[in-house]
Amino acid sequence: MRIGGEGNLDDNAPMPLISRTLPAEADTLALGAELAPHLQPGLVIYLSGELGAGKTTLARGILRGLGYDGRVKSPSFALVEPYKLSRLYLYHFDFYRFTNPRELGEAGFREHFNPESVCLVEWPENAAGVVPAADVRIELKIAGAGRQVGLDADTEAGRRCLKHLKH
Ligand SMILES: Nc1ncnc2c1ncn2[C@@H]1O[C@H](COP(=O)(O)OP(=O)(O)O)[C@@H](O)[C@H]1O
Ligand SMILES: [Mg+2]
Repeated sequence: MRIGGEGNLDDNAPMPLISRTLPAEADTLALGAELAPHLQPGLVIYLSGELGAGKTTLARGILRGLGYDGRVKSPSFALVEPYKLSRLYLYHFDFYRFTNPRELGEAGFREHFNPESVCLVEWPENAAGVVPAADVRIELKIAGAGRQVGLDADTEAGRRCLKHLKH
């Protein structure tokens, strides 16, 4: 049984491998920066949580941590925003407005999930059955003025990534 308090993840959900409180935006960015050095090409990372939960902020933190200084746009309209970084390719997907699987062909979608690239996926639930399975699942929740985050690994590559994080 879990001792629940305000802002905890769903009490019926299994305990994530890592669970943290992120009191302010800077903490979401810092978590991204902490993850960045441990991202290996080929990883698929799902970013889940309601609108405003901090998914794009976390993606921004990851990109900053990988040395990207430019603007990190929300890819809502384009479905995917590509980044060529010194160490790897990163594709940031957002399926919030996604309804038609045929859009994916046009977005050159499948080729992005390859062994040379890291893929960050917002709203993976909207493209279930189309998007490849996750190595790491990150779930953000609004908790008062801050956020609660749970990180979980589904594969060995995902576990190798998360084992570097402090609990
Ligand atoms: N840990 C946090 N505490 C408080 N506000 C946060 C935190 N992380 C992100 N935010 C804020 O939440 C808002 C929505 O963030 P965003 O990343 O766009 O959400 P999403 O992509 O999940 O819709 C932004 O104004 C951002 O600054
Ligand atoms: Mg977003």
